[in-house]
Amino acid sequence: MILTDRKNDMICENLSRSESGELCFAGMALTPLARQYGTPLYLYDEERIRERIRTYKSAVSATFGERGRVLYASKAASFKRLYEIMKEEEMGIDVVSRGEIYTAIKAGFPLCKAYFHSNNKTDEDIEYAIDNGIGYFVCDNAEELFAIEKIAGAKGVLQKVLLRLTPGIDPHTYAAVATGKVDSKFGSAIETGQAMEITKLALSLSSVKLCGFHCHVGSQVFDSEVYLAAADVMLTFVAEVKRELGYLADELDIGGGYGVRYTAEQPTIDIAKNISEVGEFMHKKAEELGISLPTVAFEPGRSIVADAGLTVYTVGTVKNIPGYKTYVSVDGGMTDNPRYALYGSPYTILPVERETENAMTCSVVGRCCESGDILQENVEMPRDIKRGELIACLTTGAYHYSMASNYNRIPRPPVVMLNNGESYLAVKRESLDDIVDLDV
Ligand code: LLP
Repeated sequence: MILTDRKNDMICENLSRSESGELCFAGMALTPLARQYGTPLYLYDEERIRERIRTYKSAVSATFGERGRVLYASKAASFKRLYEIMKEEEMGIDVVSRGEIYTAIKAGFPLCKAYFHSNNKTDEDIEYAIDNGIGYFVCDNAEELFAIEKIAGAKGVLQKVLLRLTPGIDPHTYAAVATGKVDSKFGSAIETGQAMEITKLALSLSSVKLCGFHCHVGSQVFDSEVYLAAADVMLTFVAEVKRELGYLADELDIGGGYGVRYTAEQPTIDIAKNISEVGEFMHKKAEELGISLPTVAFEPGRSIVADAGLTVYTVGTVKNIPGYKTYVSVDGGMTDNPRYALYGSPYTILPVERETENAMTCSVVGRCCESGDILQENVEMPRDIKRGELIACLTTGAYHYSMASNYNRIPRPPVVMLNNGESYLAVKRESLDDIVDLDV
């Protein structure tokens, strides 16, 4: 993997401290933003999102030319403004539910550039997606293929489909996000022969147009060998299908998953160099196999939005248990960031109004009525940190807002975009009335 090393707390280029020691994000001081919008507060650096998109797009076009695509995996963060940005940047998108499709529609995103994933699409989902002109289904299994055939047939539609396959690769990441192994709820396995079976089936149907194959090995992946291995298995399968069935795939989507830097100890992946490495490998492999390389799609989510996001909290109770530890509680927690509770994910948490001097080690915890509601353990904070101070959790742009909940009936924070020294609201703060709105 091609990595860059930057060792200090300012783990992304869009972070800095002013002369007075105030933490700034996207060039804007955080205290005035916290005052204006309240806390907890999700912030997004719009320029950073666009920069990441452009890095992907130019790397993909440098390697694959016209035959390269970048789709934003919108499960990482999904709200109207993001789909508008994706539309402006001429991206494709990956969606996994009617909710994401609906949000994209509301943002005016052209659905012909959307790929509909999920291991269990209901008939209603399929119907809804077809009615709204979805570009592609990424079909998970044979049962789903029959359902798409039936519904598309009844509507007189020829529906474009990719088949999701499991290449049998272990991505060396945490188990909950490893999806490319044979034993997975996703896709049809190449190893068991099911992939070949479903390909035959797809080619025999009349309302489904098979466009190619898809795989996704996992998320928060730092090992570039994993992508080369997946590309190897998938291209070998493409060649086998051509030999056996005379069908040459037009498109090969190799998923998302590039890891991001949550702490100074973690590396930064050089996306452009990694894509060029994958591209070089794929061109060579296709030549060896005697096939022309299909259009290649990448499907990043986390690495587009993660370090474009940051969450600001206000400190509440600070509790020292002599001989044990200090708990610093904040006004958010697992409701706006469940990732430590779910995966033990590391984070960098910093005081906003001053640098950490005379540090103590503490646990930063949320306000939910649950001991597991922890944002991070072993955090360095100023020894005299107190109620009312602001702290920031970095790299919260991916899988935070999209995984937020109303546990304990806590309203979700707003999403505020930062751009060129200006801020604007993308998602309003939930109110207490919103919380009871669906109660009858
Ligand atoms: N494509 C497919 C089919 C996926 O399942 C995923 C992520 C992606 C693309 C995007 O992967 P990314 O580039 O974001 O790594 N909630 C977990 C992550 C779950 C990832 C699910 N699939 C977390 O917070 O770490």
